[in-house]
Amino acid sequence: MRPRTTDWSLALSVAAGFGTGLWSLVAGRAEQWWIFALHGMAGAWLGLLLLPKLWRVRWRLLPRPGTASPATWRDWRTLAGIGSTLLALLVLGTGVAWSNGAVLVVWGYNLLNWHIVFSFVLVLLVSWHMLVRARPLRKTDLHERRQAVQWLGLLAGGVLLWPMQQWLQRQFQLPGFTRRFTGSREIGSFGGNGAFPYVSWVADRPLPLDVATWQLQISGLVEQPVTLRYDQLALRDTLEATLDCTGGFYTSQQWRGITIARLLDEAKPTPAARWVRFRSATGYHWSLPLTEARTALLATHIGETALHHGHGAPLRLVAPGQRGFVWVKWLVALELHEAPDPAQLLAINSSWTTPIGRGDTQG
Ligand code: HEM
Repeated sequence: MRPRTTDWSLALSVAAGFGTGLWSLVAGRAEQWWIFALHGMAGAWLGLLLLPKLWRVRWRLLPRPGTASPATWRDWRTLAGIGSTLLALLVLGTGVAWSNGAVLVVWGYNLLNWHIVFSFVLVLLVSWHMLVRARPLRKTDLHERRQAVQWLGLLAGGVLLWPMQQWLQRQFQLPGFTRRFTGSREIGSFGGNGAFPYVSWVADRPLPLDVATWQLQISGLVEQPVTLRYDQLALRDTLEATLDCTGGFYTSQQWRGITIARLLDEAKPTPAARWVRFRSATGYHWSLPLTEARTALLATHIGETALHHGHGAPLRLVAPGQRGFVWVKWLVALELHEAPDPAQLLAINSSWTTPIGRGDTQG
């Protein structure tokens, strides 16, 4: 393939891998499996595209046999290219190893965590590399028949590798076969509070909330604002649901508490209310559409045991089909709005810096 076609395709495959990777963070329902499929295919395409790229630049990296000419890898632009290639291999290696059941924890972070970190660095490096080196595509880079066949061949290879891997895993019960469609691995299902780790999206670590003074406020677009104490949230409802953490584990538990529909029926949302915003004592918040929120649960217990502080006591959201970061912990308010808060992405990434989020002040 022509150099420009390879380079632009490489950039496109990195963008596709990164985009679908980010998208996968908000995919938790079984029917969204195809986002993970696209992700794996984009990664496989990237892997295949690296072959013509490395073949083309081989004499820039290695000394030519029979000549004394040194490799020219010392110029900084070539170094950026080498760095991007190494990072791409690290991203692909950690991703494929994770999906195939490999276990490796380095400095407390598993292969999936490293995969995500490497991918951010890769995107930065590739963007910079493209800025300083990329040349625009010409008609001739796209229109040649041989070129198109090669390009389509590599793309088809990438698309086929993912289902082939899935088939092999299923057929031979290979490690990785038992992972969920999100790539997560099971930990401590139905084992209760102590069976799965305490995790936060970034680093919220509030002091334990005092159940005696704690209150839940339901406000916003409602006819009847409601305030509830802990002892008013009787254990009326049970929901079996799977908490699927973007950090790479999942756990199914019997959650007990109160279905949100009961509370909303009491608060009576106005006709304008469309979204429920779930707010934590730390300032962390996320919204769900009203119809979905009605079917979710506010949990005070896992099985027969009251929630541990690390799992969000006294009250956390249990939102089946949503990834773990949506299951807001240490809940203090439900607010009804016309739309979700556009700043919620900022809120979930900065709540650990608030005095309550840092654990300096009691919530
Ligand atoms: C340049 C960017 C990226 C590339 C090229 C890439 C590529 C890959 C590849 C090749 C796999 C293995 C798929 C398989 O063997 O089935 C994988 C797995 C995975 N990646 Fe990425 N990735 C990138 C970025 C990301 C990002 C940003 C995230 C999330 C924030 C992410 C999340 C995941 C997850 C959850 C898996 C496991 C999926 C499974 O086991 O089926 N990736 N990735």
